[in-house]
Amino acid sequence: MTVTIYLVVGLPGAGKTTRAKELENSESALRLTPDDWQLAIFRGDDSRRWRSKDRADQRDRIEGKLVAVGMRAAQLGINVVFDFGLWGKDERSALRWIAGTLGVHAQVVYLPINFEEQRRRITSRYETEPGQFQMSDAELKQWHVQFQAPDQAELRDTEIPPVPPGHATWSQWASQRWPSLHDQYGPTT
Ligand SMILES: Nc1ncnc2c1ncn2[C@@H]1O[C@H](COP(=O)(O)OP(=O)(O)OP(=O)(O)O)[C@@H](O)[C@H]1O
Ligand SMILES: [Mg+2]
Repeated sequence: MTVTIYLVVGLPGAGKTTRAKELENSESALRLTPDDWQLAIFRGDDSRRWRSKDRADQRDRIEGKLVAVGMRAAQLGINVVFDFGLWGKDERSALRWIAGTLGVHAQVVYLPINFEEQRRRITSRYETEPGQFQMSDAELKQWHVQFQAPDQAELRDTEIPPVPPGHATWSQWASQRWPSLHDQYGPTT
């Protein structure tokens, strides 16, 4: 049986966690949702703390450990869903490359969303789900600019681009993007 890691890609409110839970059931997959960990560990956060630089750094560290756990699970034969957002093409390239070194398939699951629908969903979720934060229109617009939508090569899982200059491998790039992740992947592992 082919083992697959699913890379769920999309902006806040795009429906990532909803889709990740569907895959968790339909593919008997291990779902890794960093928001769950962040909310559990930093449960007293108000919206200002939640937006702080400290929290962003800790979030990266949570994600790094979840990448290591997820890749190990995939290596052991379990399908995995990374419910991370993965706004950057380089992030996706790194995880696709690591999957390749472990001999598992990577599938990008892209959930596009327009601004109006996104705002509607986030507002209604904020009203019905405790612990969820409201996000301003200015933030949502800024994030649409930052977000790098997956291209056709990514969606078809072909052609992983070369690692950016200054990095020996995508594993090394990933260990800098997620500081709690060791540079431990490569063709020989
Ligand atoms: N396909 C859909 N159609 C309509 N509503 C949806 C759809 N998918 C999810 N929703 C609703 O939109 C809201 C956001 O969904 P969800 O929490 O899955 O998004 P998310 O991408 O995980 O967001 P975040 O990045 O903030 O975690 C939820 O209230 C969910 O019920
Ligand atoms: Mg979510």
